[in-house]
Amino acid sequence: MAGRIVLFGATGYTGDLTARALVERGARPVLAARSEAKVRALADELGGLEWAVADVERPDSVRALVERGDVLVSTVGPFTRWGEPAVQAAIATGAHYLDCTGEGAFIREIFERHGAGAQAAGCGLLTAFGYDWVPGNLAGALALRDAGEAATRVEIGYFNPGSGSDAMSGGTRASSAAVMLSPGFAWRDGRLVDERVAHRTRSFELKPGSEARAVSLPSSEHLTLPRVHPTLRDVDVFLGWFGPLSEPMRVLSAGLAPILSLPGARDGLQDLFGRLVKGSTGGPDAAARAKSRSIVIAEALDATGSRLAQVRLEGGNAYDFTGAILAWGAQTAAAGGLQGTGALGPVDGFGLDALERGVAEAGIARTSVA
Ligand SMILES: NC(=O)c1ccc[n+]([C@@H]2O[C@H](COP(=O)([O-])OP(=O)(O)OC[C@H]3O[C@@H](n4cnc5c(N)ncnc54)[C@H](OP(=O)(O)O)[C@@H]3O)[C@@H](O)[C@H]2O)c1
Repeated sequence: MAGRIVLFGATGYTGDLTARALVERGARPVLAARSEAKVRALADELGGLEWAVADVERPDSVRALVERGDVLVSTVGPFTRWGEPAVQAAIATGAHYLDCTGEGAFIREIFERHGAGAQAAGCGLLTAFGYDWVPGNLAGALALRDAGEAATRVEIGYFNPGSGSDAMSGGTRASSAAVMLSPGFAWRDGRLVDERVAHRTRSFELKPGSEARAVSLPSSEHLTLPRVHPTLRDVDVFLGWFGPLSEPMRVLSAGLAPILSLPGARDGLQDLFGRLVKGSTGGPDAAARAKSRSIVIAEALDATGSRLAQVRLEGGNAYDFTGAILAWGAQTAAAGGLQGTGALGPVDGFGLDALERGVAEAGIARTSVA
């Protein structure tokens, strides 16, 4: 029998999109959130779903949401601030877990600190299972498969043409501030090394004759792609959200580095930005989302830097994709479609072919190979 899907954070911007995507797929999730009035209203609107109240400030209330065989989906972020109780709840009960974080520091914690506990508990942890960073995992794995063993490097770029100034949710703004102030990392010469956020920039060709610049970020691909392509020595992931501001961001990040290394500075600034940049303020409406698109490009290179393969994925809005891919992942996991336990990536968690189908169902698909 399929386990229950419990969606924690259902009343937030992305939680709401995920709840609707689950119901569209025919699922009957249990909706959970900190406000009884808001979660009850949403559960009623979506056809009389079960609901529960849980608050990260009371970890026992989060733990009470799930039991073995269930799938816990968390959209409660920023995750470096509020993510831990849901992970602990999944490991304590043996429930599978998915989240939509894009925050590198949290992703690293899942792999380095929680993976072994989840393995012992017999459950899978699928972190960063939203637009950040599922399509890049898929594009990277497809490019590496096309390129074969000679590929030792992969470079991935994420772009969102058509996104206006209203393109980000409050939760994304709050999490982006957390990312900029957190330590970063990259996969270099066959191992994970510390590397500051926005340490590098590079351009990708979005259409013939038109290049777009992007900044490097710590993501899940650094931790997951070397598992599925053992000859991989270097992984770089770039985000194009900031367009022409990418280079100034690199300079700003270099300038901030000595300040952030002062005792207490990183925590102090995190705290300050946590109070200044608030979540739970909504996000782009359906009309704004319909204007933006997603382009994800992965290039597999050999040790001399020659490009062996390129994969390009294209689709719709990043938030619509996030709700839809979380719904696909939760439903697939609840039906027993998760391969393995512990901290998993999208490819080793579901298999490359199933993941490609799931990503296409969620609105992003392969458009060309060079
Ligand atoms: N990977 C991706 O591509 C992607 C896409 C979308 C979002 N995200 C990430 O997902 C997170 C949420 O984004 P969002 O746009 O949905 O932001 P949001 O609207 O601010 O949602 C945050 C959620 O956290 C809940 N929350 C806050 N404090 C809580 C507490 N003490 N106990 C329980 N719940 C609490 C909020 O509850 P209330 O509803 O009661 O305020 C809300 O449901 C962010 O970290 C964002 O970066 C990632």
